[in-house]
Amino acid sequence: MGEPGKTPMQIDLRRHLREKEIDRDLTRLICEIADASKYIVNSIRTGDLGVAGTSNLYGEEQLALDVLSDRILRKRLTYSGVVNTIVSEETDEIIKVDSNGSGRFAVAYDPLDGSSLVDVNLAVGTIVSIFEGDDIMQPGRKQIAALYVLYGPRTTLVYTSGDGVYEFNMNHLMEYTLTQKVSLLAESGGIYSPGGQRNLYSKGVEALVSKLEEEGSKLRYSGGLVPDFNQILLKGKGMFLYPHLKGKPQGKLRLLYELNPMAFIMEQAGGAASNGKIPILDVQPESIDQTEPLFIGCRKEVELAERLIAELG
Ligand code: F6P
Repeated sequence: MGEPGKTPMQIDLRRHLREKEIDRDLTRLICEIADASKYIVNSIRTGDLGVAGTSNLYGEEQLALDVLSDRILRKRLTYSGVVNTIVSEETDEIIKVDSNGSGRFAVAYDPLDGSSLVDVNLAVGTIVSIFEGDDIMQPGRKQIAALYVLYGPRTTLVYTSGDGVYEFNMNHLMEYTLTQKVSLLAESGGIYSPGGQRNLYSKGVEALVSKLEEEGSKLRYSGGLVPDFNQILLKGKGMFLYPHLKGKPQGKLRLLYELNPMAFIMEQAGGAASNGKIPILDVQPESIDQTEPLFIGCRKEVELAERLIAELG
């Protein structure tokens, strides 16, 4: 507790990273991404809501905001001087960006996850996965850092560099200040956030959801991975799932841009993340557009998902 009447001193992102002795290049990279997010938040608030007239690798129509957010982030990463390779959910290629050979990191990112929710004014986010070296096609366990920015009523940045999970919020000066070290997720319970259509669930996933409901879990689902995940992480309980579906055995969410960074953050917060069979972080990516089913949150619930899927499919 600080002195009564005095505002506690705010620790900004750069200072926090310095105090944690995060190396200079990684600090630079995280701060570049944080800076880029300030431009993205402005574009979301005031930008054009129309379509860009192009589609991404998955055949999804790109919104002007997707394209703009991608450009903002790509530019910052390219000129940061510490990145050698980038791959974005919005492009279909691994891009080498290191002009002078000094880049140490490979970065996979989704510049504006859930962008189709902006026109109905729901929350969206940016998700980033960081590897040392230039190989992006590694299992997520090799990540050295991961972060997301959530653009909601407030702008929240959550990151891990493998030593706990930290939450920052943007203040009136558009600086990220430390809110908390995220404490360990409960072993189980409370809320569940189920993606995909229920009539397409397998027997195992149907049994899982029924069990969660019987146990009194409350449904909390917005349709945006970042806000749905953030709710579970910061409330410290529950599970998000986007399972394998009939006709879509690999689910919908992307391993490189969505699952790996979220799984790294969740494990660091004491939770678990699985594709229903093995931990997400142990999946060897075969292609940049690979999707995997996702069960992420409290350990007991993720274990229950694995057990029911092994028994019932
Ligand atoms: O991958 C983008 C995304 O919008 C996620 O943020 C979200 O969890 C999911 O897709 C929702 O997909 P759908 O509405 O197609 O089930």
